[in-house]
Amino acid sequence: MDILVLGSGGREHAIVRKLKESPKVGRLYCAPGNGGIGKDAVCVPIAVTDQEGVLRFAKENRVDLVFIAPEDPLAQGMADFLESNGVAAFGPSRDAAIIESSKVFSKNLMKKYGIPTADYEVFDDPEQAMAYIRSRGEYPVAVKADGLAVGKGAILANNEAEAAEALRVLMEEKIFGASGDRVVVEEFLTGPEVTVLSFTDGEAVCPMVSSMDHKRVGDGDTGPNTGGMGTVSPNPFYTEAVAAECMEKIFLPTVRAMKAEGRPFKGCLYFGLMLTPQGPKVIEYNCRFGDPETQVVLPRLDTDLVDILLAVRAGTLDQLTIHWKDEHAACVILASAGYPGSYPKGKVICGLGADGQVAGATVYHAGTAEKDGNFVTNGGRVLGVTALGGTLREALDRAYAAAETITFEGVQYRRDIGKRALESAEG
Ligand code: AMP
Ligand code: GLY
Repeated sequence: MDILVLGSGGREHAIVRKLKESPKVGRLYCAPGNGGIGKDAVCVPIAVTDQEGVLRFAKENRVDLVFIAPEDPLAQGMADFLESNGVAAFGPSRDAAIIESSKVFSKNLMKKYGIPTADYEVFDDPEQAMAYIRSRGEYPVAVKADGLAVGKGAILANNEAEAAEALRVLMEEKIFGASGDRVVVEEFLTGPEVTVLSFTDGEAVCPMVSSMDHKRVGDGDTGPNTGGMGTVSPNPFYTEAVAAECMEKIFLPTVRAMKAEGRPFKGCLYFGLMLTPQGPKVIEYNCRFGDPETQVVLPRLDTDLVDILLAVRAGTLDQLTIHWKDEHAACVILASAGYPGSYPKGKVICGLGADGQVAGATVYHAGTAEKDGNFVTNGGRVLGVTALGGTLREALDRAYAAAETITFEGVQYRRDIGKRALESAEG
């Protein structure tokens, strides 16, 4: 099978490398890809949202499957467009991708079907939202843009002034455009966070191994939110008992709810969970693989990914047993100076081999380009250094040892990825 992966980040590099392991895969393309992905797949300069361009390329090159990794093309209906033009796609329809592209939709879905989540109200008027927040008088409070906001649409306000500022930037300044036409004002929850990616064909749901993201830019969970600064898998807080409870109260009810709404979800459904004192609750759904969760989950996959993708499309997921390596994985993100704010590009990266890799780990390229025979930085998140190990500590030691051999001007990374997980795992 010849496969085209849409996207250009570390998640897409992890998908490409996993697909490359499959004996079923022939040619592998990535659009637009990046410098490091170019060592593992043929990168083609087509934007992920260019429906006509992707279709043309897929037809001309007889691509057997298009793997749509990011949320933007999914929310715009790339899967529907390709399928209706005779090209097979992995990824949910636009009607199903709304589970990520509208927080109002997902919150109302959870309320209607009794799926545990934070209490909330929806507003399209900033003054009414502020009046509600004032009357509640409880802080922190979460204020979230309804629509897509590159993972930055959730603002945790610690007091009335911060809440007013959140409403101002989202609803009046519209820093995320129409995504801020409506907001969700949400109760603040506490507890460890867990990500569970899952394969679903609209009926059956197969959770993958759990993971833990580290969203804040600084050590000790300080500073602004980012797309994710590192991950570990498994997540020690996600015990078998918690997993069973999530399956019964969250995973199956969500997949059934989407089907009942006439929006069957086929693809990878991302459950962002918080293990609160009252039990697991949904913080957010995403309609796709997580980044950088994928970089620690897929390396542990032992079943041919192509078989899974085909079963999801065919609706035969219940007939497949998916196997995982009984190992730990850790990923440390190396980011540009200034990220998640503005950052320079084009800094030469030292320490990578000609294949973009280093000894002792796998380097997933997130934002790199190739220039004059060198890899240079080309994004906020630049590299994700991932290692496996028999224990979490071993995986972390290997990932950090490899990360230290890579340098570029202004490189920043968290030194405490996995610390909370280690404390929990090692007591
Ligand atoms: P989201 O974009 O909805 O995933 O939110 C980003 C991050 O903000 C989450 O990963 C949580 O760490 C935090 N967060 C979001 N909603 C809440 C909430 N209701 N209570 C506490 N923390 C939250
Ligand atoms: N790591 C969070 C996300 O993929 O949305």
